[in-house]
Amino acid sequence: MSMKNIEIPFIRNMFENIAPRYDLLNRLLSLRQDVYWRRKMVSAIKTPDSGVLLDVACGTGDVALEIIQQKGSGNNVFGIDFSTGMLTLARDKIDTKNASANIHLLAGNAFNLPFRGKTFDAITIAFGIRNINDKLSVMKEFHAGLKTDGMLLVLELATPDRGLFLSIYRFYSKTILPFVGRLFSKNSMAYQYLPSSVANFPDPDNFAATMRLAGFQDVAWEKLTFGIAVLYVGHKKRSRRSRLEP
Ligand SMILES: C[S@@+](CC[C@H](N)C(=O)[O-])C[C@H]1O[C@@H](n2cnc3c(N)ncnc32)[C@H](O)[C@@H]1O
Repeated sequence: MSMKNIEIPFIRNMFENIAPRYDLLNRLLSLRQDVYWRRKMVSAIKTPDSGVLLDVACGTGDVALEIIQQKGSGNNVFGIDFSTGMLTLARDKIDTKNASANIHLLAGNAFNLPFRGKTFDAITIAFGIRNINDKLSVMKEFHAGLKTDGMLLVLELATPDRGLFLSIYRFYSKTILPFVGRLFSKNSMAYQYLPSSVANFPDPDNFAATMRLAGFQDVAWEKLTFGIAVLYVGHKKRSRRSRLEP
């Protein structure tokens, strides 16, 4: 059995379990910074007026809604996630905000996107990539799903570099975060897993290198809120060979 197949049931069950309290805990544990981080990622999307966008690991739909809010209802957003609990919450939220005409939700896995060919002007993934061990395969899948000139935006939590803020962050993630998580979600394992998944995530230079290896060009990244989150951007360009072709 490959690593991909081992990790999927464990991660999926965990997200199914925490789905009902996911939004509440996100806002609480990040002191609402999660809202600002998603807003920042969406404001970095550069797509044509009537774009077709994909949000992978869409969870409860916040990124998809932010895209329609910022970019307008001329756009179409597809959201995929492998947790049906998350998708049900996303569907309700999207209906409440009257956005169901522009946001299309599907059950699906990041390793194997349920779309054919070069479909998307932009692909986003927020707080999803750290749950995926084989990041290169997924990045290649995203690259294949983008139109030429399309862009990938990855938002992910990170560990601040050094200094006082690092000490505060360590105390917070080892003590306060698991305690609050256990209290509100009754799932102590998930909120112990969260800090360890952040600690195991590659540093920004390494992750940017994986994006390049998957074929992305002009890869750049920006630290947000003292480096607790990082926004990565990469572009799919025409390959050198086809640029030279007549
Ligand atoms: C931390 S949540 C992030 C949700 C949302 N993007 C947000 O901004 O709040 C991670 C999400 O990724 C989904 N997920 C994790 N691995 C996945 C995979 N391989 N394919 C599809 N969804 C996945 C989980 O079900 C969960 O909804």
